[in-house]
Amino acid sequence: MSVDLFKISGECGCAAKVPADMLSCILQDVELPDSPALLIGPQSMDDAGIYQISDDKCLVQTVDYFPPVARDPFIYGQIAAANSLSDIYAMGGEPLTSLAIVCFPVKALGPEILKAIISGAISKLKEAGVVLLGGHSIVDSQPKFGLAVTGIVNPREILDNSHAKMGDALILTKPLGTGITIMAAKAGLADKMHENEANQFMSTLNADASIIAQKYGAVSCTDITGFGFLGHVYQMAKASGVSIDIYFDSVPLLTNVLDYAAMGLLSGATYSNREYVGNMVKFDSNIDLAEQDVLFDPQTSGGLLISCPYDKLKEMMDSAERKLSTQCKVVGKVLGVSDKPLIRVRRV
Ligand code: CO
Ligand code: CO
Repeated sequence: MSVDLFKISGECGCAAKVPADMLSCILQDVELPDSPALLIGPQSMDDAGIYQISDDKCLVQTVDYFPPVARDPFIYGQIAAANSLSDIYAMGGEPLTSLAIVCFPVKALGPEILKAIISGAISKLKEAGVVLLGGHSIVDSQPKFGLAVTGIVNPREILDNSHAKMGDALILTKPLGTGITIMAAKAGLADKMHENEANQFMSTLNADASIIAQKYGAVSCTDITGFGFLGHVYQMAKASGVSIDIYFDSVPLLTNVLDYAAMGLLSGATYSNREYVGNMVKFDSNIDLAEQDVLFDPQTSGGLLISCPYDKLKEMMDSAERKLSTQCKVVGKVLGVSDKPLIRVRRV
């Protein structure tokens, strides 16, 4: 099969998101339906919604879809599925069922390409133990693919973004830079090895990372996706009422991503993410622009950001090193309430 999906797509992956500040403005202006069973809704800017159905069981639901993030349709399907499942894992949930969302230029690309995308997604659903219940497809000039996923979670085991506590260590379970690497690949400037490395991380499930987070007593977690690392750190800091220190040199990065960033291979969302966080972040003066840009780079199927109780840190990291194939690093620390800025990015 010789199709290059990059040749027919605009903004890639989670970079195609509507800017966060626009979304939150819209949500403030509309009156949403309410229910005592609604535990986490859209206003929380959390990863997925949570609806309680019994004393010990909640539904956890999410939907995510986007234009191609890989040239190869099978890999694109794998990444889209891993990304959609991730919001369930980020809430501590167990995904059970899924529905496919398909937008596809049937005449231009033909059924074999769509079959490859769906097969890629199914390979990840099987790995996750999730069934496909159905879906909906429409003809569209630009392909888009993703899943709506439903899982369950015990209300006492929810990992939200609003309970990071002073003294917690922040752990990131995948390297940053997928948006930049995809931009470089689309421009024909990425080394094939770097492109493959990004694909490998993006298609890795966050299932084990989520289990480890829960096992070692984390109560707050989110996954790093379209709003970029600092966008998601900001959401966690704001929702938890804490400030956060990030240690730049400990943040795992994809190979060569700083060089690609210095070449200006940035998606539009990098700038809207920077605007979104605004003056809530302060960088040490020796952190240069490319280094800052990587922290705003929209991620597709990024890792989990886990707020780990300090006394469990060693056990959690030991377990992560044994069980995770991704690079898991301690990237920061949760501090008490402070005036602006909420986030300080330090060199060490
Ligand atoms: Co998320
Ligand atoms: Co999402």
